[in-house]
Amino acid sequence: MSFLKAEGMRGGYGNDDILNGCTVEADKGEIAVIVGPNGAGKSTAMKAVFGMLALREGSVTLDGRDLTKLKPTERVAEGMSFVPQVRNVFPTLTVEENLEMGAFLRRDDISGTMEEVYGLFPILKEKRRQPAGELSGGQRQQVAVGRALMTKPTVLMLDEPTAGVSPIVMDELFDRIIEIARTGIAVLMVEQNAKQALEIATRGYVLQHGTNAYTDTGEALLANPEVRRTFLGG
Ligand SMILES: Nc1ncnc2c1ncn2[C@@H]1O[C@H](COP(=O)(O)OP(=O)(O)O)[C@@H](O)[C@H]1O
Ligand SMILES: [Mg+2]
Repeated sequence: MSFLKAEGMRGGYGNDDILNGCTVEADKGEIAVIVGPNGAGKSTAMKAVFGMLALREGSVTLDGRDLTKLKPTERVAEGMSFVPQVRNVFPTLTVEENLEMGAFLRRDDISGTMEEVYGLFPILKEKRRQPAGELSGGQRQQVAVGRALMTKPTVLMLDEPTAGVSPIVMDELFDRIIEIARTGIAVLMVEQNAKQALEIATRGYVLQHGTNAYTDTGEALLANPEVRRTFLGG
């Protein structure tokens, strides 16, 4: 059984089901990537795993513990951390204040974790006194990822971390995400840059209409002619 397992998720907004039996998993040290067309329900699946959406069916377990009924803050206490697709930093707060906000649940000394985040993203240390809103798009995404790491998560969930950044900045972010996974964190990530993301994915999911159209290793999905033609632009 996988470390993180979200199984048979069904649910949506109001009475409409957006997720129709979606299953995603990630093990420690692994990068699991969800790709799929706009509106497929990728963000909805991430929200459901994090508890921002009540499920009508299905379950979310972490290390064998059933989290299905827990609120997002309770899931953070269980080890989950989530970087949403939009509004993932506080633009008027400084970089350092954003990181401090990320650690709001902690009562212990956070300075060591902050140094780890600055080690991963050195530019953030330089800019720690600047409002996050003044940073470039790629740097803001670093702040968002750094903030999520401040809880010392065992599962890091990222919804389109490379949205709107240049290819070079995307490659750099992916390298940092690989580094994060190597520390033993389970990474579950949604990506529009599907080909590049599947290249670093141990596990990949193609989501369509709220259900798993294809589930395989990243490598196998990239090699699948059907997946390439339909979802990866050939
Ligand atoms: N807050 C919301 N209220 C109602 N419908 C929503 C909401 N967010 C997303 N949707 C709808 O759910 C579907 C899936 O959206 P989403 O999960 O954001 O897709 P993706 O991330 O794959 O692009 C879309 O049809 C979208 O319009
Ligand atoms: Mg989305």
